[in-house]
Amino acid sequence: MNVRLVIIGYGAIATELVERLRDKYGTDCNIAVLLKAQSPSLAKLPVGLTCLSSAQEVLLFRPDLVVEAAGHQAVRDFAPVCLAAGVSFVAVSVGVMADETFYQQLCQAAEQGRAKLIFPSGAIGALDYIRAVRDLPETKVVYESRKPPSAWTDELQRLSKTQHIGDEVVLFDGKAREAALRYPQNLNVAASLAIAGIGFEATQVRIVVDPDATGNTHCVHAIGAFGDMQLKIVNKPAPENPKTSWVVGLSLMATVERYFAPVVFG
Ligand SMILES: NC(=O)c1ccc[n+]([C@@H]2O[C@H](COP(=O)([O-])OP(=O)(O)OC[C@H]3O[C@@H](n4cnc5c(N)ncnc54)[C@H](O)[C@@H]3O)[C@@H](O)[C@H]2O)c1
Repeated sequence: MNVRLVIIGYGAIATELVERLRDKYGTDCNIAVLLKAQSPSLAKLPVGLTCLSSAQEVLLFRPDLVVEAAGHQAVRDFAPVCLAAGVSFVAVSVGVMADETFYQQLCQAAEQGRAKLIFPSGAIGALDYIRAVRDLPETKVVYESRKPPSAWTDELQRLSKTQHIGDEVVLFDGKAREAALRYPQNLNVAASLAIAGIGFEATQVRIVVDPDATGNTHCVHAIGAFGDMQLKIVNKPAPENPKTSWVVGLSLMATVERYFAPVVFG
């Protein structure tokens, strides 16, 4: 693998990805990191990494692939220009795609630029399965997120004072689009399932705040003419950011390797 990569952001996910790429591929993987001029993450950047701060600098670096690990705004700021210029773009902040107009704009830019917009598995799995069964009539997909109260502090404060702290709380039960729009930072997984599968309107989402939860639990139930698929994943938090699952950085590593590999799965 002799490639040029731009990674947007240098937080929990990007740090994991950069460390793994450097350990495994050394100088064969030429990495530049894009950060805002005043970002606190600048202080953490290891020696030897090129630092960029604008879309223009990204294109001048001539990357083979750009990987976003920064947040929804970073996708808005950089995906359209990269895709239109013919540079494929991996977006981990999938929740931003709940904005249908923006999503269609990105699809058009990718087509125009003959580039690919790529969504990694992130904190979830089985997107290949959900994709495979999406066109069968009457396929149903239900996603349940189960996290401890610490993941939903602000939302719980807004709830009724009569709610006991020891109770399980159903924070949301409805369509994936509304879930992703209402909780953009927490519902990237729901968006991934919706895009890979039967769409934002048909994918059902349930968010449960569970005082007994020991990790971030994702349950997916897909049922239809193909059979019955039930998936449960309990993720451990990333060392640097308890709101992010550790596996997300690993998933991005797999996505980057898959992009350049001669043999691919899925
Ligand atoms: N698909 C999934 O399953 C999944 C799971 C968890 C997180 N995410 C997404 O990944 C994102 C990053 O997660 P993290 O835990 O690494 O976050 P983090 O807060 O640890 O790090 C974010 C990094 O991005 C930088 N940044 C923020 N906005 C930026 C911008 N507009 N331009 C350039 N740099 C910017 C920050 O300075 C920081 O370095 C989250 O915001 C979330 O949207 C996706």
